[in-house]
Amino acid sequence: MKAITLGEGRTPLLAAPRLQERFGIELWLKWEGANPTGSFKDRGMAVAVTRALERGVTRIVCASTGNTAASCAAYAARAGIEAVIVVVAGGAASSKLVQVRAVGARIVEVPGTFSDAYRAAEELAAEPGSLLVNSTNPDRIDGQMTAAAEIVEQLGRVPDVLTLPYGGGGNTKAYARGFDAAAGALPRIHPVESAVRADTLASAIRIVDPIHRAEVADALERSGGSVLTVSDDDLLRAWEALRLEEGVFSEPASAAGIAGLEHGSARAHECVVCVVTGHGLKDPAAIDR
Ligand code: F0G
Repeated sequence: MKAITLGEGRTPLLAAPRLQERFGIELWLKWEGANPTGSFKDRGMAVAVTRALERGVTRIVCASTGNTAASCAAYAARAGIEAVIVVVAGGAASSKLVQVRAVGARIVEVPGTFSDAYRAAEELAAEPGSLLVNSTNPDRIDGQMTAAAEIVEQLGRVPDVLTLPYGGGGNTKAYARGFDAAAGALPRIHPVESAVRADTLASAIRIVDPIHRAEVADALERSGGSVLTVSDDDLLRAWEALRLEEGVFSEPASAAGIAGLEHGSARAHECVVCVVTGHGLKDPAAIDR
């Protein structure tokens, strides 16, 4: 088997001394913007594309708000196969679409919501030789589980709390499975969603119907966690704090875990890992909005 890789994973676990002091906790940032295409999606895409090639797939398809798209396109180019990306018209940050075009993938725009894009991608993926590489593909989840194992290794323990953005829920599901597999124990998991899912300015998590909702609910029940719902103003404030106080420039959605801290995700002195999912250069125009 030939692994298709661009050097994903093994991302830093960064201390966050100023935010940690403000919240009275021990705070670590899992910096996923350090992945090859600038988001955590690369972990799962490497596994999905490697296994797709073994099965003779010649074209991969995904629906995306932009980051899965950039990752899918890059790993397809690396593997020497085609990629077709379905996005909602106007729904993905332009820099993410630049990433797609730069490596030669095709972009299909559809009207409507992410669910409409997902249905269109399913249809395209039904053609012979094609495969859907959204997070409903179990190989994607297998790859994303590695982040939890890295955290256990980097910290030397399972943290008390894990907080991360909540879009479709695939990443929450992957972390729960990953901690189970690596340590047989879960942190309290708090996925953080926008109160205005349909039109949040955090375009990466602009998803009305989280496809993994049931598995997320199960992971939360087992971990004692809960979904936290925050306003876009809360998100923007957290995003700014991460940049100005810690020097970590993420895209807006990626600061959702920090916004969760304002909403009581952690108690005093707890050890908290906040997953910062994507790089700020993914959506540079957000700074001026
Ligand atoms: N953070 C970023 C930067 C994302 O791009 C996404 C999802 C999430 C968080 C949420 O993760 O869906 O597993 O709960 N982006 C998908 C995409 C939808 O198409 O790139 P989730």
